[in-house]
Parts: sequence; C-alpha cells; structure tokens
Amino acid sequence: MVRTPAASVLRVLVALVGAAVLCFSGAAEARVLLTLDDFGAVGDGIANDTQAFVDAWTAACGSEEQAVLAVPVAKAYRIWPVQLAGPCKMKLNLLIAGTIVAPASPDEWAGRDPMKWLYIYGVDGLSVSGGGTIDGVGQEWWARSCKRKKTQPCNTRPPPRALHFEECRGVSVQGVTLQNGPQFHLSFTRCVDVKASFLRLVAPADSPNTDGIHLNDSSRVQITDNLISTGDDCVSMVGNCSDVRVRDISCGPGHGISIGSLGKNRTTDRVENVRVDTCLLTNTTNGVRIKSWQGGMGSARDLRFESIVMKNVSNPIIIDQYYCDQPTPCANQVGFAVSSLNRTE
Ligand SMILES: *[C@@H]1O[C@H](CO)[C@@H](O)[C@H](O)[C@H]1NC(C)=O
Ligand SMILES: *[C@@H]1O[C@H](CO)[C@@H](O)[C@H](O)[C@H]1NC(C)=O
Ligand SMILES: *[C@@H]1O[C@H](CO)[C@@H](O)[C@H](O)[C@H]1NC(C)=O
Ligand SMILES: *[C@@H]1O[C@H](CO)[C@@H](O)[C@H](O)[C@H]1NC(C)=O
Ligand SMILES: *[C@@H]1O[C@H](CO)[C@@H](O)[C@H](O)[C@H]1NC(C)=O
Ligand SMILES: *[C@@H]1O[C@H](CO)[C@@H](O)[C@H](O)[C@H]1NC(C)=O
Repeated sequence: MVRTPAASVLRVLVALVGAAVLCFSGAAEARVLLTLDDFGAVGDGIANDTQAFVDAWTAACGSEEQAVLAVPVAKAYRIWPVQLAGPCKMKLNLLIAGTIVAPASPDEWAGRDPMKWLYIYGVDGLSVSGGGTIDGVGQEWWARSCKRKKTQPCNTRPPPRALHFEECRGVSVQGVTLQNGPQFHLSFTRCVDVKASFLRLVAPADSPNTDGIHLNDSSRVQITDNLISTGDDCVSMVGNCSDVRVRDISCGPGHGISIGSLGKNRTTDRVENVRVDTCLLTNTTNGVRIKSWQGGMGSARDLRFESIVMKNVSNPIIIDQYYCDQPTPCANQVGFAVSSLNRTE
C-alpha cells in the first residue's frame, strides 16, 4: 500500500496525541481530534467496528468545536451498513488514513436497506480526505448479479452504493481510494456544492454497475483530477443536475462519461450547464454519452465536451434517445405511444 505524506503526518499526530484538543498553529479556533480507536474499535479487519464508528461520528458531529474524525493509518476497520446523519454542529473532517472495509457477504444486508453501505444524510460542511481506502468488497455481489450470473437464483435488485451522500451541502471528498464497490462507488443525491477530487475509483472491468461517481438531482459539482477504472460509467449524472464541471479525468476501462439515463418511467429531468474537458478515455465501451428513455420528458442543454482524448473507445460519441438496459423487448418501450414527449436539445 502506498502511503501519502498526509497519511504519515496523521500517523504521527495520532501517535502523539490520541484524543486531544489540538491548536493548529496560526489557526484561531481549536479543533478536536477523535479516532475510531478512542471508541473501542479494533481495526484488525475482522472485528465488528460498526458501533465504534457510529459512536465516533456522533461525538465528532456533535462537537462544539471543529472536529477531525480519524480512521487510523495501517489498520482496517470492518463496518456493517451504517446511516450517519447531519447536520453537524461544526464543519467536520473525516480523515480516512487507514481502510474501511465492508462485510464480504450480501447476506449481512438481510433485513437492511440493500442499497446502502456508508450512507451519510443531511450533512452541511463535511470534508473526507486522508489518503486511505474504502473497500466495498463487491466480489460476491457481482457474482450474484443477474447481469453476470445467467442462472437462477440471481440478484436483480441494485446492490449497495459504497459511499452515498443524500441531501448534502458543501461536501468534499478528496485524496482517497474507493475500490470494489458492490455498485456505485461515490454517489450524491440532492446535493449542492460538491467537490470530488484526487480520487482513485477502481473495480474490475467486468464488475456490473460499479460507476465511479454518480450524481442525481445535484448542482454546483466539481469532479476533477480523478483516476477512474471500473466496470460501468466513470461519471454518470441523472435527474435534475446543473452546473457540473468534470475535468482532468483518466477513465477506463469502463463505460465512459454519461449524462443519463434521463426520463426513466416518464419522469421529467433537466440537465444543464455541464462542462467536461481535459479527459483521457482508454479501453472504454463509450466515450461521452447522453441517454434518455422513451417516454421521458425534460431536456439536456448547455453541455460542452472538449479536449477529450480517446484511445480504443468503441463508441466515442453517443446520443441515445431510446435507451434500454434490459433484454428486449425493453419494459420501457412497451405501451408508450409515438406521441410521447422526448426531447434532447
Ligand atoms: C456489527 O455491529 C452492528 C452495530 O452494532 C450491528 O448492527 C451488526 O449486526 C453487527 N454485525 C454482526 C455480524 O454482528
Ligand atoms: C434519483 O433520486 C430520486 C429521488 O430524488 C429517486 O426517485 C430516483 O430513483 C433516483 N435515481 C437514481 C438512478 O438513483
Ligand atoms: C426536475 O425538474 C422538473 C422541471 O423543472 C420538475 O418537474 C421535476 O419535479 C424535478 N425533479 C425533481 C426530482 O426535483
Ligand atoms: C417504473 O414503473 C414501473 C411500472 O409502473 C414500476 O414497476 C417500476 O418500479 C418503476 N421503476 C422506477 C425506477 O421507478
Ligand atoms: C480495447 O479495449 C478492450 C476492452 O477493454 C480490450 O479488451 C482490448 O484488449 C483493447 N484493445 C487494445 C488494442 O488495447
Ligand atoms: C487497454 O487495454 C490493453 C489491452 O488489454 C492493455 O494493454 C492496456 O494496459 C489497457 N490500458 C488501460 C489504460 O487500461
């Protein structure tokens, strides 16, 4: 494992102070540093550290002073599905220097929302950084997916997203690795002012639906300086998304950069002001793509794609207004009259 300078600095900090109040030189306000270990986490990759994580979050999020919540370096914390809620009292920094690892078996989700693993709701002002890794251990999920397993029983329901933010504001995720997600690696639903930078998002080329970064109903988003190599879209956006900047991305293998699918189940989706530039796409099935379902409504406008280099890309530019991801006849394309509205500007 490669350790970044930030991670080694953290190790020193963690070793020196543990749980303590730090006064950063030059900064006026005090900050509280909490680590998972302070809350009883074991960090051997086997023990169940979920409760410690939840308790640490509760303490850090409720702190009257700006808090740094650290996942210590050189250790692995196994975390079952968690729902962490904001808003926090102050800005919070989740410093992931070590590894957060999911349970390997989908059976562990029995009785829980199958679409969630690390689910963070309603935060305002959270930064995630630290040079560490979030490992979704998706292998068994992929093996059971009907997209891969052609015999019954197979799983048609969407697996959990690895790190999923909903209703968030001012969130930045920078300088960590997200790997082997059961489904999307990093996703934002109904978020504004989002930054996702200096990330590695990695899963095998044949892992189903493992999009790198997925946006839904989100605006003012910057996705820059990321290395994305997965089994599905490197970046995808659906719903009403606007003011999205995608820059300096290395993408591939994977399915490319996608706007849509829009208008699923006759919904109205409006995507506007999207800039995608300075990207290198290698070994991807698609390059840049806009896809909408038949019968959907809305528009995709003011989109600009420039300075995109593609190597070994099967379909460099696609605008597909009859998108369907199931075997034909596509459920979406049955029963909708030709008169249904479908507009992509
Ligand atoms: C791990 O801990 C969490 C939180 O206490 C709990 O919900 C989950 O069921 C535990 N998992 C196992 C396998 O015990
Ligand atoms: C997008 O979010 C809406 C709720 O805001 C939800 O109904 C829809 O299923 C989501 N779409 C995807 C692809 O996640
Ligand atoms: C998206 O925008 C359209 C038109 O502005 C609106 O009708 C629709 O409800 C919006 N969808 C969501 C999930 O906000
Ligand atoms: C789309 O509509 C069909 C039929 O009404 C429903 O079974 C399905 O769950 C809907 N899908 C989504 C993503 O909302
Ligand atoms: C092109 O990409 C495909 C899919 O990733 C890969 O199987 C193939 O070997 C690549 N070809 C070359 C010439 O790189
Ligand atoms: C593209 O595919 C070729 C052939 O499989 C491989 O040699 C090359 O390393 C791949 N490039 C990337 C960036 O994945």
